[in-house]
Amino acid sequence: MPTKTSIITALIIAGMALASTVAHGAETKAAEPPKAVAPAVPPPYERSEALLSIINPHNQIGDTGEVLLGTCVVCHKDTPDVKAKSIKEVNLYYPDNPDQLCRNCHTVKKHPGSEGISVTMSGYTAPDHLVVPSKTVIYNMKLSLKEIPMILPLDPKSGRLLCVTCHNPHERGLLSGRPDWGADYSMRIRSAGLDICQYCHRK
Ligand code: HEC
Ligand code: HEC
Ligand code: HEC
Ligand code: HEC
Repeated sequence: MPTKTSIITALIIAGMALASTVAHGAETKAAEPPKAVAPAVPPPYERSEALLSIINPHNQIGDTGEVLLGTCVVCHKDTPDVKAKSIKEVNLYYPDNPDQLCRNCHTVKKHPGSEGISVTMSGYTAPDHLVVPSKTVIYNMKLSLKEIPMILPLDPKSGRLLCVTCHNPHERGLLSGRPDWGADYSMRIRSAGLDICQYCHRK
């Protein structure tokens, strides 16, 4: 029987192989993450009327390639330097609860974690993901960050997960390097086609 350690080692090796493929791919065609795929089942969210009628703040680059600085200040208190590398280097509105930025426009139920389960049948509800991660999850996140050129921002104040831990609010090509990973991918998930659950839950 394989031990837990040997499974984890195998996963790490597989991950390293993946990361090197990714890094190699990035050299040749930096601006081309995998194409977005439609989700198999409709996600359990509603789009508010407001969402359907307002400007999309995630469109941050104009038709001729210029940065649409006006959109930055929907979320940032001042126009950020595009070279800033982390949440600690920018001034966001709602510093005590950065998720409020997103909730102003997006009404979401607790997710992810309930996919494919009929809630009425099982009585199962998705776990609260917006919490301070356990040591195991922190450890897994560190491994993932070694393997994949991305960021997984946590709340600078409390250390808990935020909406933007999983979702990249920026347009692809606006930021460079790690912060660009997953931008404009399906559901803006920082997975860019990889299994995002495995970033934090290695099985
Ligand atoms: C919908 C909200 C939103 C908009 C609009 C937005 N940002 Fe951000 N930005 C964030 C959040 C939240 C963070 C911190 C989390 C993160 O790391 O992505 C951030 C972080 C950053 C960072 C630090 C790197 C990083 O990803 O952590 C830079 C640089 C940045 N933003 C630049 C910009 C610029 C330039 C614009 C306008 C063209 C802009 N942002 C528009 C929400 C937004
Ligand atoms: C000013 C309103 C506004 C704010 C603030 C905002 N969004 Fe959005 N968001 C939009 C619009 C508009 C769309 C495009 C929806 C569509 O195409 O139907 C969108 C799309 C998305 C999507 C893709 C899902 C979809 O329905 O296509 C995700 C995920 C998302 N936003 C996450 C975030 C996160 C995370 C934040 C906070 C950092 C945030 N948004 C802040 C308006 C907003
Ligand atoms: C642990 C990762 C994670 C966190 C944290 C998270 N999401 Fe998501 N989100 C996902 C995944 C994965 C999906 C794709 C559908 C699913 O699995 O439910 C998704 C889907 C979405 C969608 C798409 C809905 C649609 O169909 O238009 C929106 C909008 C969204 N999330 C907003 C948010 C907001 C706002 C927050 C914070 C309150 C947040 N998410 C926190 C992982 C996350
Ligand atoms: C950025 C890290 C992160 C990602 C990505 C993530 N989770 Fe989680 N998940 C957590 C944290 C933190 C908890 C709270 C428990 C803990 O800290 O161990 C949690 C808890 C859970 C739980 C409750 C049972 C448990 O293990 O404690 C389920 C189920 C779950 N997640 C499913 C998912 C699924 C499905 C996905 C992918 C769609 C996903 N998660 C993606 C961080 C993450």
